[in-house]
Amino acid sequence: MLRTASYEADPAQVHRVLLLYSGGLDTSVMLKWIQDSYGAEVVCLTVNLGQPGEDYEVIKGKAMKLGALECHVVDAREQFAHEFVLPAIKANALYGGGYPLFTALGRPLIAKLAVEQARASGCDTIAHGCTGKGNDQVRIEATIATLAPELKVIAPVRSWQMGREEEIAYAREHGIPIKTFPTQSGAEATPYSIDDNLWGRSSEGRWIEDLEHAPDDDVFQLVTPPERAPEEPQEIELGFERGVPVTLDGERLELVTLIERVAEIGARHGVGIVDHIEDRIVGLKVRDIYEVPAAAIVLLAHQDLERLVGTIHQNQFKPELDRQWAYLVYAGLWWEPLRGDLDAYMERVNEQVTGTIGLKLYKGHARVQTRSSPNAVYDASLASFSQSGGLFSQSAAPGFIELWSLQSRMAWRLRNG
Ligand code: ARG
Repeated sequence: MLRTASYEADPAQVHRVLLLYSGGLDTSVMLKWIQDSYGAEVVCLTVNLGQPGEDYEVIKGKAMKLGALECHVVDAREQFAHEFVLPAIKANALYGGGYPLFTALGRPLIAKLAVEQARASGCDTIAHGCTGKGNDQVRIEATIATLAPELKVIAPVRSWQMGREEEIAYAREHGIPIKTFPTQSGAEATPYSIDDNLWGRSSEGRWIEDLEHAPDDDVFQLVTPPERAPEEPQEIELGFERGVPVTLDGERLELVTLIERVAEIGARHGVGIVDHIEDRIVGLKVRDIYEVPAAAIVLLAHQDLERLVGTIHQNQFKPELDRQWAYLVYAGLWWEPLRGDLDAYMERVNEQVTGTIGLKLYKGHARVQTRSSPNAVYDASLASFSQSGGLFSQSAAPGFIELWSLQSRMAWRLRNG
């Protein structure tokens, strides 16, 4: 194998591999393939970031059956919520105007846990199941190369040149159990490519690659399609303290539970479906279907509250840094010092973000309808149409307008006068 980067493994030096194992087709084939082609031992690591419907005992059993030396399952939901999702909330993080970064936030944590487990289990190499076309390889390998320069990386999907059909054949040949997806005609359908955690779910592949194809309903496994959502709207209240969502309808909840509950309510009302055209960092433009009920509600509420407590100057400035934060994290540079610098700013602004936001959810929409905060830079009597006087002198307005518009008026006259 031709090595391009310093962290890529020299096959002769691969003896024990830490495999990031999901239990799916790619990584199951990989588990066998690594043992066969490198003659190496394989230690599996499966990370629970709150992806719904996983049976970790089954995944573990499958790994052991396929010859894994050890299989570890780590429940990292708390750490993910507090150290990755929370900073994203404080930065109102949306890439490309619609993607709340759940995968991009999960990868640096998964890779960090892989480094820790690789060291604990005496592995020399880490293997992952990312393709050569996506962002995830960047996020995972950049993390490993940053945190553990002594560890090497292999990415079999990039090099083994098996397509889906060949992988299925390989699995059959080696007794690897596979789930198939029969279509109505009885033929085997390729499944969507899914990634999910407690902050959202993405689907890629199949008809999604055809930009003229409107979404088939079977892609929505989390969010109810809005037209089938309840006829009755639901009102909820989210309470924040210093930027952290802490209560739902007045009940204090741990962050993971709060996100899960909000996701459930949003999903029921069809909230958080995003059909997204996305610029990947590796140059491709792709379409993703996202289901992000929790993010759609929590980010909306957070941003609204933040605007209420911020001044016009803060509110003009922060979205620029928010955008930069989202881009860095999307681009796989979680460990870049600029992210820490930006987080310091986010923390400082969020010191004021305390209060309650009321939202109405109805057939795919979430709308803010009430707000309250001890820190609101808002005075109802000043803003009111019904009164005048007090601190706000309307008679001062013409003087303000004269000076405020002075340069613009001078320039207009010079160029058009
Ligand atoms: N487009 C999103 C991103 O780059 C989601 C990727 C989902 N990953 C996956 N392996 N299916 O973060």
